[in-house]
Amino acid sequence: MKREQFSSRLGFILISAGCAIGLGNVWRFPYITGKYGGAAFVLLYIFFLLILGLPIMVAELAVGRASQKSAAHSFDVLEPKGSKWHWYKWGAMAGNYLLMMFYTTIAGWMLYYVFKMASGQFAGLNAEQVAGEFGTMTQRPGLMAAFMVIIVVLCFGVCVIGLQKGVERITKVMMISLLVMMIVLAVRSVTLPGGGEGLKFYLVPDFSKFKEYGIFEVLYAAMGQAFFTLSLGIGAIAIFGSYIGKDRRLTGEAVNITVLDTVVALIAGLIIFPACFAYDVNPGEGPSLIFITLPNVFNEMAFGRLWGTLFFIFMFFAAISTVIAVFENIISFATDLTGCSRKKAVLINIVVIIVLSLPCVLGFNLWSGFAPLGEGSNVLDLEDFLVSNNLLPLGSLVYLLFCVTRYGWGWKNFTEEANAGRGFKFPGWARLYVTILLPLIVLFIFVWGYISKFFLG
Ligand code: PHE
Repeated sequence: MKREQFSSRLGFILISAGCAIGLGNVWRFPYITGKYGGAAFVLLYIFFLLILGLPIMVAELAVGRASQKSAAHSFDVLEPKGSKWHWYKWGAMAGNYLLMMFYTTIAGWMLYYVFKMASGQFAGLNAEQVAGEFGTMTQRPGLMAAFMVIIVVLCFGVCVIGLQKGVERITKVMMISLLVMMIVLAVRSVTLPGGGEGLKFYLVPDFSKFKEYGIFEVLYAAMGQAFFTLSLGIGAIAIFGSYIGKDRRLTGEAVNITVLDTVVALIAGLIIFPACFAYDVNPGEGPSLIFITLPNVFNEMAFGRLWGTLFFIFMFFAAISTVIAVFENIISFATDLTGCSRKKAVLINIVVIIVLSLPCVLGFNLWSGFAPLGEGSNVLDLEDFLVSNNLLPLGSLVYLLFCVTRYGWGWKNFTEEANAGRGFKFPGWARLYVTILLPLIVLFIFVWGYISKFFLG
């Protein structure tokens, strides 16, 4: 059977962007940036997107397009006989599942906040009470689990409808409305009285925070965020390469996706940081940041309830467009590996993902005594750390080395694939850099990041 493809190029770009643009941009980027000190961190992050993220995205797309398979089979198809690259399918699968184990919970928070906003529950609360609402939610495992289940069932539901009719059609509309909405809110937030300090924090670099955490921990965090936001290292982008034809060169497509993704993250920062400073919320607050900052903005706005509801609806869209993309990958693993039908893969995985998502929910309440990464940490932090700071960078290395060394698929095959079609060519002069320097940079930051996080801090 011929593999189903996207109906249009815009569809492909928006879905890949939909996979890349998600909680990483609107939830993780602001709180990590807040923690590591603002503008200086942002610079580092953008630098890593360009020098690490972009070439690796081209590599992933190329592997997907050449193999026409998900990560479950892509290495088997392309690797030289007798080599073991295909073992990484297990890493990629683990990564997709682990990511969803916390992502579904956060996406559930977004949905819950849609309802809270719409029913006017934040009206008249002061900043402290708004923060209190978040705390109350995390103490209610049943509530959080219920929203998580809704997310899982809904997103698998979209996947069941199929790639073009379900995934592509729905994501396209969601992504375009998200972009419009974010620009409106950024304008409101930037003009809040007292927001100027926040803009300064976000736009004027101050490198002193780097000293506080140690430069290697900061580099490590910036690298993790760069891979996370672009969805690199676990075959999540590769799968979309497998759904497109050969009429466009991949470097150009990677640039498009990266630019869209970065724009959304940067606008998210423009919304959050002025608001933090205007309402006296500590930008280093952590995962709760957007939930305790934004309702305040809406409280102060004309028609705030309406704007707030719309805002969380679109955050929810951003989150589920990623969940749908990753579920698409998970389904593809199952159908590629076992030959089962799409329906069956969906039914089994609904149960599996729900069960696997429970620890993250419980980590905030019943299991809060479990602090795997030091005081105050919980299951969410552990799962996020395993994915963002381990599987994504190491998996990205696997994809890259597979493409550039002769022990893998090899430079010639890789560049032929990447350069098939019209558009921007993968630069030949970059060969030495991507073959030697890039892997060394990732490894170096990885090793030092570990040392600095666990032994020096
Ligand atoms: N890029 C997604 C986001 O920003 C997260 C993601 C990471 C998705 C890795 C797939 C793979 O929310």
